[in-house]
This record gives sequence, structure tokens and C-alpha cells, in this order.
Amino acid sequence: MDMHRTPDPTSAALDGGTSENLRGDPITGDRYWSKAFMEREWEHMWTRVWHIGARLSELPEPGDFVVHNFRHESVLIVRQQDMSVKAFFNVCQHRGNRLVWFEEGSMPSFTCAYHGWRYALDGALIEAQDSENFRGGSPCGRVRLKELPSESWAGFVWYSMDENALPLAEYLDPMQALFANRGVEDMVRVLWRRVAVDTNWKFASDNFNESYHLPTVHPQMRQIVDEDYKATVFEMYPSGHNRMIELGRPSMRADSPNDVEPLWEAMLREWNLDPADFAGRAREAREALQQAKREKGPLSGHHYISRLEDGELTDHYHHTIFPNVTITASPFGGFVHLFRTEPHPTDPEKCTFEYMALAPRNEGQVEVATVAGMRPLAEAPLENLIFGVDDVGDFIDQDLSVAVMQQRGLHSRGYRDACLSEQEARVRRFHEVLNDYLEDRR
Ligand code: FES
Ligand SMILES: [Fe+2]
Repeated sequence: MDMHRTPDPTSAALDGGTSENLRGDPITGDRYWSKAFMEREWEHMWTRVWHIGARLSELPEPGDFVVHNFRHESVLIVRQQDMSVKAFFNVCQHRGNRLVWFEEGSMPSFTCAYHGWRYALDGALIEAQDSENFRGGSPCGRVRLKELPSESWAGFVWYSMDENALPLAEYLDPMQALFANRGVEDMVRVLWRRVAVDTNWKFASDNFNESYHLPTVHPQMRQIVDEDYKATVFEMYPSGHNRMIELGRPSMRADSPNDVEPLWEAMLREWNLDPADFAGRAREAREALQQAKREKGPLSGHHYISRLEDGELTDHYHHTIFPNVTITASPFGGFVHLFRTEPHPTDPEKCTFEYMALAPRNEGQVEVATVAGMRPLAEAPLENLIFGVDDVGDFIDQDLSVAVMQQRGLHSRGYRDACLSEQEARVRRFHEVLNDYLEDRR
């Protein structure tokens, strides 16, 4: 038994490794390709949940802005004079022109290209042509951009299109507590990739809610990740989010699990452990690795290590935040990986998949290892990639390859519902939470 597992801060967590707490709603194929279903998701779910709109580091100065386009909607996120951040629907209040046409930039104020109405950073209309020619007097000072609830967490600005949205902390519960040790808000986004994929956005929520696909889709991981469900923690939270913790050690499915295979060897050597010491008992090196990191980490500038629990030094913590964000805290370099899918504006069979690698600011480090090779320890620009043409990165290409074929299979008259193992309970759980939104239970 693992003696160092981070205690679950929420007594309300449900066992996510069993279907006992589920209703058994079918996961039908139309959920992935029907336009009507896509519109129900928009009306009842996307317009109510919290979205990641921008990274705070993209908005260092007053007037800096980022536009987040989501389907046909557009949200303008602006750093204010007092350094707070506001989010507005990106639409001119005069006659509905889209106000800002750039994706990012910096402006002292926002001027509409149609009739020249000008808005201050706080959304107040400050200039209108022939302002005396309006019934009731000048619209300046009376008219404002429509503001949305927005808050920050993990170095990101989140917003909701629902003016009655729950506070972000309540919506995310218990994610903020689960990430308390990680210091994500101070991390650096060293890699940011976006790729258009011919599949429904929900493939990623499904995929990241189970580790059952690891042995087949990511066979290389068996050298370092124990995906055995009997050793894995599965949790479901009342808020609709889930967590899975896999132990960082060779899987019993590895070719020779008791020998130190190359990926495990590399991890041990990085912390000056001699793989020979673990010959015939490779899985036991997990505890030695924790100890080595604990002792040597702070000396080598890896200060984040002193904040982490033992398990957090070696194990893989996957958090699926409903509906479309997955945040995985990994043992490699203290990285936190964020994955997000968003639907195509009109086609339910297309989506964008984003990957962000967040790295701690280790003292003395100027570059870090990523799935794209060594990268500077600095905020990275967005790379727009094409799936099937560009290399998105290691395990991501593996997941995406399956996703596009699954999308085809889900059209078959021969598919009615998923036949899930108990360890995949969170896949159905995700769809049940979605149904709660669609049927106005959430
Ligand atoms: S629509 Fe913006 S000024 Fe007329
Ligand atoms: Fe995967």
C-alpha cells in the first residue's frame, strides 16, 4: 500500500472506479455527430459553464487584450487600469458589429469599425458620432459593453457566459484544493499547441477519463506508468469533475516489469540513482525516487519539490474538469499539462485540441524538455498545427489517431451504447453530468 497518498480533501468524493453511483445513461453515437445535439450542448451547457479565456501572462499591461472565440460567440478579455481583468461580449452595442477583429493586442480604447463608437477599457462608451442626436441624450456614459463573470485560477482568466454562474471556486471544487501544492499560477507555459481534428470535442473528455487505453494506445508508457486499475485511485466529485491517480512505476504489463527498462532507467539516472541497485525489483525504485527528489531537488533549484507530497513526486495525477479541460500533474520536471478541446463553430464532427505544457520556474534552468524537444523556459507563442501533417507530440498523436477512427465508428448502426469496464466509470459519469446540464438538472 502507498503510505504517502495525498489525502482527498473532499469527504464528498465518490468512488470513480465503479458504476454503482451512476444512472447508466446510454452513450449513444448521435451525441458525437448530431447537429441538434450540438445545439443542445450550446444552449444548455456551453453557455453556462466556465471557460478558460486567456492566460494572465498574455495581459501584462493595462489595455492588453485577448479575444476568445467559441463557436459563433466571441469574448474580449481586457487588462484594466487597476490591473484587474474584465471580460465582455465582443460586440458593439450600437448595431451589433463585432468590436475587436484581432485575437490579441494592446489598445488604449476600442473603436468600432462601423460607425466609430469608442469604448474605454472598462467597457464604458466614451465616444459616439453625433451623440446629441439620440433620444434621451448622449449614449456615452449610459451604454456599456456587456460584461461577463470572470475570475482567475491557475494563471488563467476564466469566464462564463451565464450571468448567474456559480463562483469559479465553487464550480471547480475541489480542484483548487487538489492543486494547492503545485504553484500552477507561477508556472511558465513553455509549449502551446493547437490542432484541428476531425472528431467531436468529447473524444478527449472520454479519453482522459480512463486509463484503460494505455496498454494498447501508449505501450511505451508501461515502462513508467502503472496503469493497473487495482493500484489506481479513481474519484468523482459532486461538481462533475473527476480525478485519477496512477502510480509512477513500471506496470506489470511491461515486458520485464522487475527489470529497469530504458524509460524508467532514464528517470532514475536523472536523480543520480543507480539502476543496478534495483535489478529484479524495479518497481521498488518509486520510493527511492521520491527520496532522491526530496533530498536533491532543492539543491538543484527544483524548489517546487519541497511543496509536494511524496506521491506527487512520482505519480500521475489526472484531473478532468467538466466539460473540456484536463489538467495532468506529472512527475517529470514538476510539469503540469493542460489539454482542452473546443467544438468547431458549426460542425459537430470537428474540434480543436489544445495542449499546454506548464513548467515550474526552476532556479538556474534556461530550457526544459518537452514533447517537442528542448524549449526555452519562457512563455511560448501559440503553434497552430495540422493533424496528420505535423507532429503534435508523442502520446498526443497516438490519442488523436484513435479519435478520428472512433468518430467514424460512432456513426455505425451497429453501435448503440458503450460497454464499459468498471474502471471506465468516469466516461459514463461525464455523459451523465452533460445530461444533467441538457435536462436542466444543473
Ligand atoms: S455597429 Fe459599432 S458603431 Fe455602429
Ligand atoms: Fe491517451
